[in-house]
Amino acid sequence: MNIIITGASKGFGKSIAEKFAANGWNVYMCSRTEKTLYQTRDELRQQYPSVKIEAKPFDLGSKTEAQAFGKWILSLNISIDVLINNAGSFEPGSAYNEPEGVLENMIAVNLYSAYHVTRTMISKIIEQKQGHIFNMCSIASLQAYTNGGAYSISKFALAGFSKNLREEMKPFGIKVTAIYPGAAYTDSWAGSGVDPKRIMESNDIAEMIYAAAKLSPQACVEDIVMRPQLGDL
Ligand SMILES: NC(=O)c1ccc[n+]([C@@H]2O[C@H](COP(=O)([O-])OP(=O)(O)OC[C@H]3O[C@@H](n4cnc5c(N)ncnc54)[C@H](OP(=O)(O)O)[C@@H]3O)[C@@H](O)[C@H]2O)c1
Repeated sequence: MNIIITGASKGFGKSIAEKFAANGWNVYMCSRTEKTLYQTRDELRQQYPSVKIEAKPFDLGSKTEAQAFGKWILSLNISIDVLINNAGSFEPGSAYNEPEGVLENMIAVNLYSAYHVTRTMISKIIEQKQGHIFNMCSIASLQAYTNGGAYSISKFALAGFSKNLREEMKPFGIKVTAIYPGAAYTDSWAGSGVDPKRIMESNDIAEMIYAAAKLSPQACVEDIVMRPQLGDL
């Protein structure tokens, strides 16, 4: 079985790659920075020598690169069993006064990336008559909060994409799951001063995705909402 993960050099993406590789899945992944991506690829190859781990750098904030990533996967002639649209970034701010261009950037990285990657691969997934697409939304897709701004707007939009895709894919036997995590400790939290024990671990998210991917073909987990035990920060 094969899993395709965007933004897998660190954070949730890397934890998801580890979880699936540990269970015998081949992993195909991307992120922007070549050095960290190849470091992660090499680490995973060492840890899980019996599976295939392939990686190639792409900046999914660009439409042509998002499509190129999809085309690279298609060129490998593998089944696309699970696709995780995880790549994303967070710029804190408020919609009313954040710098010009932040919304465009957040929409490109957090929404268009998933939209174009999925559209490039979808005909192949439909042909297979099976497959599972996960979209990494956020609690910020469900509610507004201080400093959410363009990030929250882009994650609401990603949830909209995910809900539409879920409806569209029903007749084809393709599952679509939206994941809505609250705060979980990754590099995006490094230097924030937040106690890692106050929020979730990135492995918590990987465990839930793996469980959702293992259900019978008749069952689809539509939404996964996860929060720290003590609630949002
Ligand atoms: N951590 C949380 O608390 C939390 C909560 C809710 C939702 N999320 C969402 O979960 C996802 C992963 O977050 P994370 O905390 O794991 O972040 P992270 O540790 O910063 O990792 C993000 C990954 O995405 C890659 N990436 C970023 N921009 C990219 C681009 N334009 N093209 C290709 N790859 C790109 C990064 O590598 P490069 O920088 O080298 O490209 C990295 O591999 C994001 O969508 C985020 O919004 C996170």
